[in-house]
Amino acid sequence: MKTNEILENIKARRSVRAYTDRQVSEEDLSAVLEAATYAPSGMHFETWHFTAVRNADKLAELNERIKGAFAKSEDPRLQERGHSKTYCCYYHAPTLVIVSNEPTQWWAAMDCACAIENMFLAARSLGIGSCWINQLGTTCDDPEVRAFITSLGVPEHHKVYGCVALGYADPQIPMKEKVVKAGTVTIVG
Ligand SMILES: Cc1cc2nc3c(=O)[nH]c(=O)nc-3n(C[C@H](O)[C@H](O)[C@H](O)COP(=O)(O)O)c2cc1C
Repeated sequence: MKTNEILENIKARRSVRAYTDRQVSEEDLSAVLEAATYAPSGMHFETWHFTAVRNADKLAELNERIKGAFAKSEDPRLQERGHSKTYCCYYHAPTLVIVSNEPTQWWAAMDCACAIENMFLAARSLGIGSCWINQLGTTCDDPEVRAFITSLGVPEHHKVYGCVALGYADPQIPMKEKVVKAGTVTIVG
């Protein structure tokens, strides 16, 4: 199989769910965010917004508000998370990038997914771990959550399509080798 640095980086990226306390430098975060802004977007509208939160108290407050929204849910699994003392949707990562977009175009989520993958790969190339965090996608319109994300800088008319946790992987938690599903590719000659 042909390979190069970029292909190896793609294959080495994994979702990191345990982080050390070490913060990502502003310089590295800027590089990751810049990579996001270079992603393709439908019609090149670039209506997205990237809100990077590096403050531990604000991240903890965001988690509490997400838990509050879950606690109101009919779904027992979400209710359990909502009432859990230990649940942390962003795995205590030191930085979280909230990725939002105007919901007016049907491809808004796709634009965000392209930007998110760019961030994952840029982070990996800098030795930074990352993970997609989805919980704001379903809770961003809860009034308490919305008020808080607005205070953080998420545009009021935006929907959140995903978040990116960023930090350094805890070396004590071993990463299982990735096994990819066979039979998902067809090449027509
Ligand atoms: C749309 C999407 C949503 C995801 N949401 C979450 C999430 O909320 N929390 C989480 O821990 N991982 C989340 N993931 C990560 C997947 O679980 C992960 O990519 C998958 O298990 C494959 O593992 P890998 O990323 O290490 O290759 C999400 C991934 C995608 C693409």
